[in-house]
Amino acid sequence: MHHRLSFVIETISKKNILHGKKLKNNFHNADSDYLKKTEAFLVKYEHILKKQHKDLDYAVTCYLQMLADVHYESVQFVKTGKYSNTCFADVNKKVYSNPQVMEYYMHALLLRQFLLPQNYAILNFFDKTLRIKQAEVNNYLEVGGGHGLFISNAVEVFGNQVAYDLLDISKNALELAGSMLENKNVNFIHADIFEFNTPKKYDFITLGEVLEHVENPLDLLIKIKSMLTKNGTLFLTTITNAPAIDHIYLFRNADEIRNLIKEAAYTIEDELCTWSEDVSPEKAEKFKVSMMYAGVLVIK
Ligand SMILES: C[S@@+](CC[C@H](N)C(=O)[O-])C[C@H]1O[C@@H](n2cnc3c(N)ncnc32)[C@H](O)[C@@H]1O
Repeated sequence: MHHRLSFVIETISKKNILHGKKLKNNFHNADSDYLKKTEAFLVKYEHILKKQHKDLDYAVTCYLQMLADVHYESVQFVKTGKYSNTCFADVNKKVYSNPQVMEYYMHALLLRQFLLPQNYAILNFFDKTLRIKQAEVNNYLEVGGGHGLFISNAVEVFGNQVAYDLLDISKNALELAGSMLENKNVNFIHADIFEFNTPKKYDFITLGEVLEHVENPLDLLIKIKSMLTKNGTLFLTTITNAPAIDHIYLFRNADEIRNLIKEAAYTIEDELCTWSEDVSPEKAEKFKVSMMYAGVLVIK
């Protein structure tokens, strides 16, 4: 019935039996809405890939490459207790400005958003937040939008009445986001957020999985705050204990994230924590199981 999802899982299983088993188990327990939305995404995604002369096989290859990268980084993380990157300029050169890496990495992240339930839960939480805030939003900014899935969702919910800016340091990310958005009216900004200055203020800013990519996340939260309207909302996601090719700042638990948010003088209106394994928060911290954090933040 879920033809493309079965194809994706089977193709992954052939190359990575263990991960395949994990996915099969996840989707065995998934509700019908999750299955339906994943299949609908894969139909749309296949159409986008086709325009680039690519297919779902290609997307799976990207995903497997990302798993291999994570595995490599995890070995270092277990040995040292640290992420391997310390310098933003190095990551920028190695990842964001490197078309070969960005190409597979962004496709991998896109697929992961649906394949892993903890990522999917964050996407659903984002969708719910957009609908709650809808009446208050006239302009929207996304920083580090990567593949463009989140901003596409925002465009779907907010429609044509809202002005959209999408900022990313990576040209490749903006290109992929452009194909995700198809003909939607979005202003693309190729810049480092720290070097971007505008008198404009935004009612809704999305900062998804960027905080752990910078050397000083407090500076980033403060910078974003200066770009919000008085009643504006920041939708923030980040992650703990998650070695990756481009992660620099290590959050060890949810409280470290919450303390930083507090230090930057935001109020947490709502939040969601999802873990990559089915364990208690205490065990997750002890065994360094990664946790995704999503916060709906407003200015005090
Ligand atoms: C891991 S991806 C996140 C993609 C997407 N937002 C998500 O939540 O899945 C990080 C993105 O942030 C961008 N990025 C990293 N540092 C940045 C900076 N200083 N300024 C602008 N974009 C940045 C990268 O190019 C990449 O597209």
